[in-house]
Amino acid sequence: MGAKFLQFLVLSFSTFLFSTAFTPQDNYLINCGSNAPTVVVDNRHFVSDKGSGYLSEGKSFSLTNPKTSPISPVLYSTARVFTSASSYAFNIKSVGTHLVRLHFSPFSSGNYDLKNGNFDVLANGISLLSNFGANSTVLKEFFLMVDKEELEILFTPASDSSLAYVNAIEVFSAPKDFFIDAAGIALISPDGIQEFKQNVSSQILETVHRINVGGSMLTPFNDTLWRTWIPDEDFLYFKSAAKIARTTDPPNYQPGGATRETAPDNVYMTAQQMNIVNRSLNSLFNITWDFPVRPGEDMHFVRLHFCDIVSVALNTLYFNIYINGVTAYKDVDLSVLALHQLASPYYIDFVVKNAKGSGVVRVSVGPSELSATLRKNALLNGVEIMRMVNFVASPRRSKKKSLWILVGSVIGGIFVLALAVVAILALLKCRKRKPKQKTRRAESAGWTSLRVYGGSSQATASEGTALASPGPYGYFGLKIPFADIQLATNNFDKTLLIGSGGFGMVYKGVLGDNIKVAVKRGMPGSRQGLPEFHTEITVLSKIRHRHLVSLVGYCEEQSEMILVYEYMEKGPLRHHLYGTDLPPLSWKQRLEICIGAARGLHYLHTGSAQGIIHRDIKSTNILLDENYVAKVADFGLSKSGPCLNETHVSTGVKGSFGYLDPEYFRRQQLTDKSDVYSFGVVLFEVLCARPAVDPLLTRDQVNLAEWAMEWQKKGMIEQIVDPHLKDQIKPSSLKIFGETAEKCLAEYGVDRPTMGDVLWNLEYAYQLQTNGRKREEHRPTDVTSDDPRTPMVVPSGRAGIDGNCDDGTSDISTSGVFSQLITNEGR
Ligand SMILES: *[C@@H]1O[C@H](CO)[C@@H](O)[C@H](O)[C@H]1NC(C)=O
Ligand SMILES: *[C@@H]1O[C@H](CO)[C@@H](O)[C@H](O)[C@H]1NC(C)=O
Ligand SMILES: *[C@@H]1O[C@H](CO)[C@@H](O)[C@H](O)[C@H]1NC(C)=O
Ligand SMILES: *[C@@H]1O[C@H](CO)[C@@H](O)[C@H](O)[C@H]1NC(C)=O
Ligand SMILES: *[C@@H]1O[C@H](CO)[C@@H](O)[C@H](O)[C@H]1NC(C)=O
Repeated sequence: MGAKFLQFLVLSFSTFLFSTAFTPQDNYLINCGSNAPTVVVDNRHFVSDKGSGYLSEGKSFSLTNPKTSPISPVLYSTARVFTSASSYAFNIKSVGTHLVRLHFSPFSSGNYDLKNGNFDVLANGISLLSNFGANSTVLKEFFLMVDKEELEILFTPASDSSLAYVNAIEVFSAPKDFFIDAAGIALISPDGIQEFKQNVSSQILETVHRINVGGSMLTPFNDTLWRTWIPDEDFLYFKSAAKIARTTDPPNYQPGGATRETAPDNVYMTAQQMNIVNRSLNSLFNITWDFPVRPGEDMHFVRLHFCDIVSVALNTLYFNIYINGVTAYKDVDLSVLALHQLASPYYIDFVVKNAKGSGVVRVSVGPSELSATLRKNALLNGVEIMRMVNFVASPRRSKKKSLWILVGSVIGGIFVLALAVVAILALLKCRKRKPKQKTRRAESAGWTSLRVYGGSSQATASEGTALASPGPYGYFGLKIPFADIQLATNNFDKTLLIGSGGFGMVYKGVLGDNIKVAVKRGMPGSRQGLPEFHTEITVLSKIRHRHLVSLVGYCEEQSEMILVYEYMEKGPLRHHLYGTDLPPLSWKQRLEICIGAARGLHYLHTGSAQGIIHRDIKSTNILLDENYVAKVADFGLSKSGPCLNETHVSTGVKGSFGYLDPEYFRRQQLTDKSDVYSFGVVLFEVLCARPAVDPLLTRDQVNLAEWAMEWQKKGMIEQIVDPHLKDQIKPSSLKIFGETAEKCLAEYGVDRPTMGDVLWNLEYAYQLQTNGRKREEHRPTDVTSDDPRTPMVVPSGRAGIDGNCDDGTSDISTSGVFSQLITNEGR
């Protein structure tokens, strides 16, 4: 009890400390026209502008509202009135983004009616307001970059006969990193989604809406930056689509996510979620808000605040964000974004260009296809919309793409490893035919150079892609200084080595903020694997998923190529299957791992508009975290691109021996079904606990795919399952599993299931194992039935027939040799 109480005290104390922690470096609060300092409701002290030194020469006088009542805000009982251009000047100690708030409360006194005010306001020469006038009390709030030591706010009456005025001024520094530049912010326009090329911090932003979704009005008293947040009800398009969610627990702030300065606790403690009346009806709808803005083609900065206060478990909530009807962010998984914590605040920024004449910014959230039917939901905790005042697109840089030309020799370490295996195999036996297969020179992967990450050249994302804006630590912010990596790994301490591969060494490390990471270091000085390095950054920075290993950062300094990933405690799946002393996994665990990996792959194939093919699925590229959650890793060979919208990608054959899709190396045409093939090999590997290729075995057993398929086709797969599993697997579960693996290994891609089907069937096998019940739902694709159309495994001779896909390039590249050898030995 005592300890609990103490803990409570400490917690409340730290909460208190945090909530009062923000003290701006520059902080000027002026009650204009008043005679004496004033303390306002939120306890801030405003000083008088008389004799303060802030006010410049010029014709001005102070005016007092004769009708002030004791309850009216004290700041609005006086005003400073200007009859000619006059300014306030503030000394800036800390350059950077500042908030400027101008309070206008037009009253009349004697001969003066402030409602007739009509004037311009400029800050350091940049126009904030022009021909401005107000009939009621207005607060104008701006965020602007002050890059010199003075901020001058100039008030200029529009004509000789008009006047300018202001009741109060606030100028204070914004928290550091309030806007993160070049954070890969998505620009949503009527044409779709692309990357916003300018720096947000160099824009002048005027706050238009600040909404506490699902909550009550929050006053400056409740907010660390003295902001006002208003409820969202009036903006909801269909009120009945939304239901308020509330928690009484304070948010769980995480490094890399939002802070109390991003938005106060109360914003994250309330939300609107889908109002699903009957979950078994699989309701699919969006919650939509319309926020009025100035009609026209204005640009707005939109910040959406999220905190998963509705889920009871991690990774159950997946939703989509739409802005003005465009998919702005697909399959948001707050569990991943907010570092695997529930109720952890996060925000995502967008830039929105409105259509001509459109007077609203429409924000919708809706359920993602990734969520289970019974868990479909979507939520939103807060919205801020700011207009980009005087937005000027900076001149477009040249769109020239610098391609990394992949020379034939650079196939990457994986190939070197594979070659070694191939060499052993070649020694062990010599067999038949050498089909004259000519392969295309390993194609350029077509990557734009790393300058992309500096935000200067054309983005890799093409139109229509759901460019996953990773938010505050966006992929442009993924660069990690080499010194930090040295520190994290104790200067690449050998005792921290956890693996090595074609690319180089992998070390365990701890980053400054106590995040455990895996550090993959390319051979220093060697540019081998450079394209893979870039591919991996490009792919992993665009996508985040619970079942894809996430990239923490990278370093490309001093001829180093280093990738930093989340640390996967339990290492590769393969180590838990054979060849080590690790305890064998149960059948249920194995199914969970396969389901996880399938989910990751399914997301890879379908999660973005382009689709991504992994190309190197194998049991060493499926990693397990401390809870045995599977994540697909190693995207160095992966391919994405609009080309996948067509039926295939023609490319040099790459991949790992024993897992390679035979159709792919025959026809040189890559589709997502090649991953399905490799995954089928993994499934058998999991079932039989032996390597995909084991040269020490007898000829008929060397190749797992071949050997297992024989047993499977004979209906005797149980004969070769891992002895550790013998008494655990229910026959019904094994049957579905075996059939699924078999379909994956179908000779022709078209006959193989999609990863979505594979996923469904594995889940089915899992259900059969865990509760023996049959699913009543209709199966999407009946891949488990005995499909008479499925061709038998075609004898290796076929390779010769189909291998003539000569494209005119006659170079025998290393990959050509590779596929030839596989043709000889693999089938
Ligand atoms: C203020 O009211 C006057 C008359 O009622 C109107 O002409 C003017 O447009 C209003 N100004 C603003 C800024 O609403
Ligand atoms: C954005 O800001 C960074 C540094 O803050 C600067 O190097 C870069 O030139 C800026 N880019 C543009 C387009 O202004
Ligand atoms: C916000 O501040 C007011 C005082 O201005 C206080 O009465 C109210 O309870 C606070 N609201 C919340 C949600 O904390
Ligand atoms: C929900 O819908 C299902 C299917 O139509 C129906 O059987 C069930 O009674 C409904 N439940 C409620 C609580 O309305
Ligand atoms: C949600 O809104 C988007 C954009 O308007 C639309 O494309 C999508 O079909 C909607 N989803 C549902 C389930 O209504």
